[in-house]
Amino acid sequence: MKTLSQLQAYKENKEKISMVTAYDYPSAKQAEAAQIDIILVGDSLGMTVLGYDNTVQVTVEDMIHHAKAVRRGAPDTYVVVDVPFGGVGISEQYDLEIAVKLYQQTSANAIKAEGAHLTKYIGNCSRMGIPVVSHLGLTPQSVGITGYKMQASNKDAAQQLLNDAHAVQQAGAVMLVLEAVPADLAAEISKQLDIPVIGIGAGKDTDGQVLVYHDLLNYGVEHQAKFVKQYGDFSVGIDALTEYNREVKSSEFPDGNHTYKKRVMDEDTK
Ligand code: KIV
Repeated sequence: MKTLSQLQAYKENKEKISMVTAYDYPSAKQAEAAQIDIILVGDSLGMTVLGYDNTVQVTVEDMIHHAKAVRRGAPDTYVVVDVPFGGVGISEQYDLEIAVKLYQQTSANAIKAEGAHLTKYIGNCSRMGIPVVSHLGLTPQSVGITGYKMQASNKDAAQQLLNDAHAVQQAGAVMLVLEAVPADLAAEISKQLDIPVIGIGAGKDTDGQVLVYHDLLNYGVEHQAKFVKQYGDFSVGIDALTEYNREVKSSEFPDGNHTYKKRVMDEDTK
């Protein structure tokens, strides 16, 4: 497994970091087999695997359940688990208890928390030994306020994002995920920060990229954001299921190749 310092050294060596989401045992196994640097157990699982409209309904228990399966599927990959909506921002003690629970019960290597207001939290977690990845720009847990659109599109907002990025780094964040921001701003932030900046919808000049598994494999996704590139097509599953359904109805399945032909009789026990 790549360590945090190895991942951070990628930035110095100008080697890009690859990150992908995974939410279960098989997707985690695939990501590990593909030698992806970091797996994110994102709260996007609310949409991709639980069928919610957004990430807000995802609970701490959901995250733990899925992250444990991911860890089993990818024992040798650096895993980051999202702190879901309501898992932070309640009170200092509650927030820390949830951070400990997520980190301890999932065996993830780090937690990820959305928002610039969490500098104190990042500091508290770091002091407890919990590495925190910060997530700025478009933060889907705040979608009720921001909507799904590019962030930091004017000069003041861009300056604010730059300040926030420095503040989370200063607080102890070990990496930063930057979502849906102009490419030139993401490039500038990546240049100014010492920690790796992983972009999603943030152009090519960040220190790494993250995409959602279901988006890049076209797996049950109804809407693709502009920044998603599709690398595979799992919608072929529908064709396979349709064919299976037809063969069951027509008694073509199971055929001789998929049938135990003779009972094996145990002479001694007759
Ligand atoms: O939950 C998620 O998948 C994420 C990525 C979009 C970065 O936070």
